[in-house]
Amino acid sequence: MDKEVKEFEPRLIKEDDIYGEKAGYRLNLLRPNVYQFYSRTAGCHVFLIIGDELNVLIDTGIITKFNSFNYLLTTEVGLKVEDIDLVINTHEHFDHISSNAYFHCPIAAHRWAAVKIQHSDELITKGKKWGVDLTDLRINLWLEDRNIIDLGNMFLKVVETPGHTSGCICLYEPYKNYLFSGDTLFKGAISNIYESGSISEYIDSLEILNTLKLECFYPSHGRSVFGLDLVAQEIANSIEVAKMELNSFINKVRSKPLDKARPPPSLYNREEEDL
Ligand SMILES: [Fe+2]
Repeated sequence: MDKEVKEFEPRLIKEDDIYGEKAGYRLNLLRPNVYQFYSRTAGCHVFLIIGDELNVLIDTGIITKFNSFNYLLTTEVGLKVEDIDLVINTHEHFDHISSNAYFHCPIAAHRWAAVKIQHSDELITKGKKWGVDLTDLRINLWLEDRNIIDLGNMFLKVVETPGHTSGCICLYEPYKNYLFSGDTLFKGAISNIYESGSISEYIDSLEILNTLKLECFYPSHGRSVFGLDLVAQEIANSIEVAKMELNSFINKVRSKPLDKARPPPSLYNREEEDL
């Protein structure tokens, strides 16, 4: 682990459980200037990075937890929503973008996520299915692989990681060697593959992550992983499991007689309740 991580143990700052049922965020300080709004129930974790030049928020989280986010931001971090300079969405799913409307700073996402968010593509974003209105959201900065955001005291490098959806990215700090892994890399589990995603692209994305020097990663759901060896092990396991899933699918398809093959129905022609 790098010097900074060795000298700094992540710690809980405050748990917002005023409404009970673990409905609020748990605020953790992961490392100097990096906060995690940890979601134990519905929704994703939200990360705040306080830079010398920019304060960046990674994902805005589920809308039902915005009050909890705002409470912890103001009372514990000492910032206001207006102090956030840039929001980056790791992908286009509703639980990562549904509080976007509360932020008036520029909002960034990969271009394949941006186009789906701006077209309110329900099949992909899943907002309506989960009772969240995602119309009229805009993405101001359309990102691509290897874009770099300079926060002053640290960098975030965009790593395209399609698979879970087509618009997934991870954000890599190339000098301190940590990664915000979105819904691409988790501890102890592989990602689900949703509409617009692809398991073969997912395997390729994991193999790209495997080329990075990674001392820890912070996923959008579940626990973070610390240590070069443990991170490498998680990536290797994920690649292995994803390859097994792909092979079992291929074998299933190949076992069907050719005369049963027919074009799949368009996903967009499904009945609404299927979405
Ligand atoms: Fe997702």
